[in-house]
Amino acid sequence: MARDLGELNREDFARYKDDVKKEGKPFFPRAIFHDTVMSFIVVCVITALAVIWYYDADGVKPGILGPWYTEPADPGTTDFVPRPDWYFYFLFYLLRIFKWPETVFIATVGIPTIGLMLLIGLPFYDRRRERRPLHRPVAMVAAVLTILSMAVLTWKGATAKEALGSELVTLVPKWAEEQGFADNPEAVKGAELFAQSGCLNCHTYMGQGAGNLGAPNLSEIGATNDASYFVQYLTNPAAFGNTVMGSYAYLGQENLAALGDFLAASKGTSSK
Ligand code: HEC
Repeated sequence: MARDLGELNREDFARYKDDVKKEGKPFFPRAIFHDTVMSFIVVCVITALAVIWYYDADGVKPGILGPWYTEPADPGTTDFVPRPDWYFYFLFYLLRIFKWPETVFIATVGIPTIGLMLLIGLPFYDRRRERRPLHRPVAMVAAVLTILSMAVLTWKGATAKEALGSELVTLVPKWAEEQGFADNPEAVKGAELFAQSGCLNCHTYMGQGAGNLGAPNLSEIGATNDASYFVQYLTNPAAFGNTVMGSYAYLGQENLAALGDFLAASKGTSSK
C-alpha cells in the first residue's frame, strides 16, 4: 500500500533531523570561519595582482599584466564599432535580431525578465519529489534548450560582422545600380561619403544601418526634396528642428554638394 504524501514528508523530515544531529557540521562557527578564510584569500590575490600590475608597468609601457592605460580615446571617431564583453554576446545578438526600434523592448526587458520569473517561480510550480534528471523530461529539455540557445547566440554574436564604413563603401556600386545613379559620378561620390561619414550609425539605407535615435530610412528620401535642400539640411540640421544629428558643414561645400546629389538621387528601387 502506498503511503500518503504527508506521512512520507514527516518521516523524511525526522530522518533529515537525525542525520544533521549525527553527521552535520554547525553553521556557526564552522561555515562562517570557512567563508571568512576563503574571502580573505580572494582579496589577497586581487590585491597582489593589482600591486604587480601597477609596479611592473609604467604608463603605456606594458608589464606582464598589461599597461596602466592604452591610447587616449578619440571622441570624434565615426568608425569605431562598440562591442560588448564576450559574456554579453548572447544579449548583444538578441538585440540584432530585434533591431526594429519598437521591438528593442522585447530583447532588453521582455525575454530576460520572463526567463528570470520562470526561474524564481521554479520552487513553486515544480513541486514533485523526483530529482533524477531522466525522470524530469520537461525540466531537462528546457535547461538544455536554454543552454543551447545561449551558446548559439553567443557564437553568432562573436562572429557577427559589423558594418564598418570601409565595408559599407563596397556596397556603393550596388546602391548606385539599384537606385539608378550609376551614371552620376557626383551622386556616387556622395554615396561613398555617406557610407564613410557614420550616417548609418543612425540611419538605415537599402537594408543597411542601425535605425537609431528615431533617424528615418533614407532609401527613398530623394522623393521628398532636392539636392540643395539636403545641402542646407546637412549644413545645419538644428535649423530644421533636428537636434540629434550634428552639423556636417566641416565636410566642405564640395562634399556636401555630392551628398546632396546622392540623397536627391535616392528615390527608392520601386520608383525606377
Ligand atoms: C546621431 C544620429 C544621426 C546621424 C549620425 C545622422 N543623422 Fe540624419 N537624422 C537623424 C535624425 C534623428 C533625423 C530625423 C530628425 C527629425 O525627424 O526631425 C535625421 C534626419 C535626416 C534627414 C532628413 C530626413 C527627412 O525626412 O527630411 C536627412 C536628409 C539626413 N538625416 C541625412 C543624414 C546624412 C547624410 C548623414 C551623414 C552625413 C546623417 N543624416 C547622419 C539622426 C542622424
